[in-house]
This record gives sequence, C-alpha cells and structure tokens, in this order.
Amino acid sequence: METAYAKINLALHVRDKRADGYHELETIFAFAEHGDLLSAEIADTLSLSIDGPFCAELDCGDTNLIIRAAKAVQVAMKTTQGAQLYLTKNLPIASGIGGGSADAAATLRLLIRLWKLDISQEALENIALQLGSDVPACVKSESAIGMGRGEELETVPFAFTGISILLVNPRIPVSTAAIFHAWDGVDKGALDCNHHPIEQGLLQSAIDGRNDLSGPAILLAPQINDVLTSLASQSGVILSRMSGSGATCFALFDNAADCEHAHAAIQSAHPDWWIMTSKLR
Ligand code: C5P
Repeated sequence: METAYAKINLALHVRDKRADGYHELETIFAFAEHGDLLSAEIADTLSLSIDGPFCAELDCGDTNLIIRAAKAVQVAMKTTQGAQLYLTKNLPIASGIGGGSADAAATLRLLIRLWKLDISQEALENIALQLGSDVPACVKSESAIGMGRGEELETVPFAFTGISILLVNPRIPVSTAAIFHAWDGVDKGALDCNHHPIEQGLLQSAIDGRNDLSGPAILLAPQINDVLTSLASQSGVILSRMSGSGATCFALFDNAADCEHAHAAIQSAHPDWWIMTSKLR
C-alpha cells in the first residue's frame, strides 16, 4: 500500500514564461499525511480499478496517469511484468493538490518495490518529469523548495512536520493549463528563502510569499474567493492561501483544536464543499 500524499504549494511564484511553453516557478512544496491510496499485485498485464469518493470522475484506461506511469516504468526498465493496481480516490480531481501527480508518483514507488527493480535516482527522476512537472516532488513527498518547472528540488525534510492543515475545495475542477495561460506575465518577485536555519525559516518564507496563480484562478472560478475568505476568518490560522492552480485552498493552524473547529464551522456553512483535515508530514 502506498499513500499518494496530497501536495500543497505553500507559496507559488511564477517568474517567467519559457520558450517551451512552461513557466519558470519558485515554490514551497509541503505534503499532507493523507491522500489517495494505491495498492498493487502482480498480474500478467496492466490494469487499474478505482473506488473512493471521486472514482466516478476518473477514467481507468490508458490516459490515466497511473497506467501511464506504469507503462513508463516498463519501457524505461525494459520489463514486461504486469500489475493489477487498485486506487482509492479520496482527493478531488483537477484541484491543485496534485491528485494525478501524487497518484503517478505513488505508482512509481509501488511498482519499483513490487517488481523488485534496481532503478537509478536519475532514471526515476526522468520518468517522473515525463509524467508531469510536480511528479518529481511527489515521488519524494518531502517538504522542498522547487524551481524550474517545479522539478529542481532542494528538499528541507521535516520543515513543517506536524502542522495542522485544513484543505477546502468548492468542487469546481480547474484546468492547470488554462490558469497558467491566464497569468498576467508580470514577475512579482522572488521567494525569500534566506531565513536561517532553513528548516525553521521556511514557514516564514511561505508566509511572506504569494500564490501568483490565485488571481487568474479567481477570475475563472470566483468561488475560490469565498473559500479564501472563509479560511482567513477562522481562529488560529498561521497562513491561508490557494494551492497550485486551484481551486483547493488551505489553512495552516497553530493547533489541532482550532483546525478541527474550523473544519466543523466551514462544513456546516458550506455542506457542498469538500473539506479535509490532515497534518503536514
Ligand atoms: O507538467 P504538467 O503536465 O503537470 O503541467 C500541466 C500544464 O500546466 C502544462 O501543460 C502547462 O500548460 C502548465 N504548466 C506551466 N508551467 C509549469 C508547470 C505547468 O505552464 N511549470
């Protein structure tokens, strides 16, 4: 069993649009203890079955990032081994918390173990990046500073371990490509990661940072503003912001009781929103 840990961008600075169409980023990655769940057993071919709260919105065929990840491993490692994969889809689809990327990364970790593959770090990183910009970070699932497309990683293990987090999504899927496309092209400045020591200072760097995609995301999905307002008004919030390209927003709390209280309050005011309490790992 592998957990596809939910990915949170505590800050996301978009610095430039590159000639290859991707954007140059500076981001602070954090990961929740909870996420989708993936398991596998040896089989003759590759197949995937999905259950869980968001299973109906996902295809389990060749376009699924889990099958694409498994095929990429077969090709790169020249193996014909197969697997029956099982996914419990707990995280909303197209929601800025890395569901698909985390699932792909968990597939890589799981199949390397199941198929007893001896893979180099470089080969693993190549497969991961080919599947998506966030997949290398999700393979590690450790707090990290990400540059480039998000794949140039400086891990800062345990920088946020134990911090209570509330994730809230207004159940509106948003396209990452569309949100990046709507970015205004204005560089609003670098992340300041110069607080020392880095493990303790990274939270302050995140608090001082921004998510440059929240403006364009709110234009396309105005409900994100309601989520942000609702999170910011809770007691005990250290930082609240949108993650990735949205629409999921998060709040970090200075204690678990305030986080649980906020969960209950937001759930009763907005019974149609998706809400998850977790801790950062
Ligand atoms: O890499 P991934 O397939 O997850 O990215 C989805 C889309 O998000 C890309 O096609 C691109 O439009 C946009 N993107 C970007 N710059 C990045 C990461 C993603 O423009 N650094």
